[in-house]
This record gives sequence, structure tokens and C-alpha cells, in this order.
Amino acid sequence: MRARLLPLLAARHGRPDLAQLLWPDGAAPSPVVVGEVPEGAPRRVEAFGRTVAVFRHQGALYAVDDTCPHRGGPLGRGEVTGGAVQCPLHAWSFDLATGVCREHPSVAVARYRVAEAGGVVRLLGPAEGAG
Ligand code: FES
Repeated sequence: MRARLLPLLAARHGRPDLAQLLWPDGAAPSPVVVGEVPEGAPRRVEAFGRTVAVFRHQGALYAVDDTCPHRGGPLGRGEVTGGAVQCPLHAWSFDLATGVCREHPSVAVARYRVAEAGGVVRLLGPAEGAG
């Protein structure tokens, strides 16, 4: 799968060096199929040794660690408003684009690269700089 996907990504972005830039150690994770992610219906999937919450918000896809760093609340069951998901346990909110907690900016959740083709969403791996 990866052998077929990487050339497609590189060609699509006009970047033959893309795979090397994304995974300089050559250990690219295999993409994980999520399936459909409708607006307002996040998915929680096991990927890369973690539970990952995948959201579609205002048409854009986002993926973050499902486990809230406060006390482990399931972010994939939280409400999304204004570009952030609110933890259902104690209401900390996390910016979907950056992973940073809005109430406690020194805290963040890991983010993941996500792509969609033919209506199928896939997780591609941890985002660069993701905590
Ligand atoms: S467990 Fe998420 S805010 Fe407390």
C-alpha cells in the first residue's frame, strides 16, 4: 500500500522528494483507513499505537490524540465549535489545527496527518512537530 501511495502523493504535490521529507528515516508508518468522516460525526480509531480522534469541521479534516492530557477524557466524544474540540469531562478545549489547549496553552495533544481520496479518509502518520 505504502509503495503505491507515496508516488501518488509525490506526483500529486509535484514533489518527488516528498516521501523523504515526510519520513527522513525511511520508516514511514502505513496509512490507516478511517473510512467516512461526516461533519459532526467524529471517528475514533486505533492507529500508530494510539487512539486517534478524526473530525471533519467546516469541511476540513483534523486528527488528534483521542486521550485528553488532563485526565484522559475521550476527545472524540467532545463537541466541536469554533475550530476546537471540547473535552466532555472537564471542558478543556483543544484547537484542532494546532492541538494546543486554549485554556492551558502549555498543554497540547498530538496531531496526525490525514488525507481523503474517493470519500475514504486515511491517517498518514504523526504530524510534524506533534507532541
Ligand atoms: S479529562 Fe479532559 S478536561 Fe479533564
